[in-house]
Amino acid sequence: METRAIQNGHKFSSDVMPLPNPHLVQMETDILYHIAIATNTHDLPSLFGDVKFVCIGGQPSRMSRFAAMVSRELGDPLPEGQTPQNYAAGTDRYAIYKTGPVLAVSHGIGFASLSVILHEIFKLLYHSRCKDVKIIRVGTSGGLGIKPGTVVITKECVNGMLNNYYEMPVLGKLVRRQAVPDVDFVNDLKRFADKMCCSFPTVTGKTLSVEDFYEGQGRLDGAICDYTQDEKTAFLKRLSGIGVVNIEMESLLLTALCHKAGISCATVCVTLVDRLEEDQLTNSRETMVEWQSRPLTLVTGYIKHKLGL
Ligand code: URA
Repeated sequence: METRAIQNGHKFSSDVMPLPNPHLVQMETDILYHIAIATNTHDLPSLFGDVKFVCIGGQPSRMSRFAAMVSRELGDPLPEGQTPQNYAAGTDRYAIYKTGPVLAVSHGIGFASLSVILHEIFKLLYHSRCKDVKIIRVGTSGGLGIKPGTVVITKECVNGMLNNYYEMPVLGKLVRRQAVPDVDFVNDLKRFADKMCCSFPTVTGKTLSVEDFYEGQGRLDGAICDYTQDEKTAFLKRLSGIGVVNIEMESLLLTALCHKAGISCATVCVTLVDRLEEDQLTNSRETMVEWQSRPLTLVTGYIKHKLGL
């Protein structure tokens, strides 16, 4: 990997992509610890300054496949047998791949893991002096009343109390961040899906985004459960009644932090199960792997289209 030390003593300023943290400009060096990248060991503007799209997803292997797909689609395929370079190879927490103006980044599962990588990716973009970047989560979810394999573009997300904000304690106080979606971006993705893409169904809808896969999503099959089948069914029907079409664990935080930082984002998730029918993911691995490639196909096509290729 090409790296170049930057002189200590450099103070950051960026009119390109301001971040809502006044302390950043005071720092001489910034160590992005969880991705093993630092401003005094990496020449961030030359490594990442051209980035326009950051696609994030749970697993490193899926994001590596995505990076290979983007390389092919952008007309610069990897040599036979070669896997994409991981820019965060100095750690095994997260993986970062780059293909032209597209970063593919793994975020693990849930809010805590996503929060850490988002802080560091926002700062990577800031130190790299990137402009007009869009972040897209390509992931999986449970569906509500829609056929498994359907791709959902989130048009609004709500937390486990059905409110459209993310809350977390900071300095002993609850801080509330509104999850305000980028409606234009959502509509643009849907228009693209309808006109130019895809052999699979794509819908827009409301997403329930919670901190847990089992109790938080009203499943009966976790190790712990204090509610009845009827209570679960009533909750899922209530969700359906307010327009929720899928359930996952990251879109709320992504939308809230991107809104706070002034960065455009969207969430595109395939559904792996209809939660009105069952809790467990019973389809074959091969079927799920094919479904999981659907958000990647849609988003790769969208990026290609936006780049005029
Ligand atoms: N991811 C989730 O968070 N829930 C599901 O049901 C499937 C994938």
